[in-house]
Amino acid sequence: MSIPNRLGAPEPTWTHDVDVIVLGSGAAGLSAALAARPVRDVLVVTKDVLSAGSTAWAQGGLAGVLGPTDSLQHHVADTLAAGAGLCDEGVVRRLVEEAPRAIRYLMRLGAAFDPDADGRGVALTREGGHSHNRIVHSGGDQSGREVQRTLDQSAIAAGVEVMEWSFALDLLVGQNANGQRQTAGVRIAVTDAAGHVFSVGDVTARAVVLATGGYGQIFASTSNPPAVTGDGLAMALRAGLAVTDAEFVQFHPTVMWRGPDARGQQALVSEAVRGEGAILFDAAGRRVMEGVHPQEDLAPRDVVAAAISARMAEAPAGVDDHVYLDATHLGERFYERFPSITAACRDAGIDPACERIPVAPAAHYACGGISADLDGRTAMTGLFAVGEVSATGVHGANRLASNSLTESVVAGTNLGRDLEWELPERVDPGEAPDGTEALLEPERRRDVRSAMSHNVGVLRHAGSLTAAVEQLHAVAGKATVGVTPSRDAWEATNVLTVAAAVAAAAKTRTESRGCHRRTDYGESRDIWLTHLGVALQDGEIAVTGVPPGA
Ligand code: SIN
Repeated sequence: MSIPNRLGAPEPTWTHDVDVIVLGSGAAGLSAALAARPVRDVLVVTKDVLSAGSTAWAQGGLAGVLGPTDSLQHHVADTLAAGAGLCDEGVVRRLVEEAPRAIRYLMRLGAAFDPDADGRGVALTREGGHSHNRIVHSGGDQSGREVQRTLDQSAIAAGVEVMEWSFALDLLVGQNANGQRQTAGVRIAVTDAAGHVFSVGDVTARAVVLATGGYGQIFASTSNPPAVTGDGLAMALRAGLAVTDAEFVQFHPTVMWRGPDARGQQALVSEAVRGEGAILFDAAGRRVMEGVHPQEDLAPRDVVAAAISARMAEAPAGVDDHVYLDATHLGERFYERFPSITAACRDAGIDPACERIPVAPAAHYACGGISADLDGRTAMTGLFAVGEVSATGVHGANRLASNSLTESVVAGTNLGRDLEWELPERVDPGEAPDGTEALLEPERRRDVRSAMSHNVGVLRHAGSLTAAVEQLHAVAGKATVGVTPSRDAWEATNVLTVAAAVAAAAKTRTESRGCHRRTDYGESRDIWLTHLGVALQDGEIAVTGVPPGA
């Protein structure tokens, strides 16, 4: 395999200097930008428009202990249980303690969360794996949109500079006074809305914040919008950083099924629908979750996604690619409580008040990422990571529903405040690293997605994972220097890079844990109570941290 270690692009023709550059414009990046802005020059760079990432699509909301019968200990316990042994308890505790403050902070910025019945507090709902109602939401199922709107307006009002339609290609890395590699800035391509290059330049900065989100688009079917192509992770891999826990891809159990040929972003049917009492049935009319887990339809989502996949494999009534979610007990109340899902159902010709909704699992969230603490610090000075691109220890092997927006606001704000106080010393960008600048033709992205969806889905085994690694190897062999640089080609190359990392990690972990489910190793194994790292070395994926005897 030869995965490019630099993205091919025209030579840079301009430079710009700021204190802090933030890559990505979802909840994590904008929280960091907003908190750092009062005393820093902050530039937010996004390859699309500000709201193109996953945040605006989040339906559920933000988890935080706000109800009188709930407790921090319950939220910690639920998060650890979902994370299946791989959470960092200290980090989880810190997140849970800071969560209510982060939610109140958003409200002070102007976020309108749905009120409770007497109108004095906020309404709290429940999702899979939560023992108590603790999720604040907005516009019924439009929580992410409200968080994005609030942070967009706040960041712009605070004077954060924004570059839209600007693709972050590669990190600029220099050397600090201690002889260590340190991030010095980012090479950026300015494009038109179709992704054609206008110009390339170098932005130097004392702090580079990766807030580029996840990588659902490495799969054929995902709840993530088209922009979610793992760009930050691929960039970090090319800069020599390792990705932790890449095998833990969370599949959302209930994404609307629109037929066997549906590809790309599919409409999410929030877990909050099951939180309001909806039940999963197979095509033969049998319940899916009865007897599978004590929390039945509100079990953690790895359990529900695996149960649905196992049931589909039995092809009840001849149907092997979807099951049904029955929310008809809500009647017309469904329309008001879940307006976006209602619109998606109507688009598919379904009335959720009186019909079951066809659903299937689809790629939803990356539990792993660049190792960072809850203040965004990574192993490389000058480089920070917040939100879905990071692995802080909060999610472990499976993220608890609605902990992600909360984590994004907490970690982003913590980081921004730290950067407001203190920045790393400036370093000069070194020479561009040697290496291949090849790119993948945009059409090859289809091959990557197909390899991943067929072989690295909810249920995996040695044969499927070996096939994925081999197919991705063949795709990597097609990367060439002759491809015209464009957003599509950079995304395709990043998609390949991240997919190769995920497939290699999934093949190596010979157990089932959290959202990594192997049919050939159906149980968790104690020797695997550890984290794998995946790095890019000379165009090959290398896996580290394999325990002896595994
Ligand atoms: C959902 O609403 O089901 C998704 C929420 C989440 O992913 O945290």
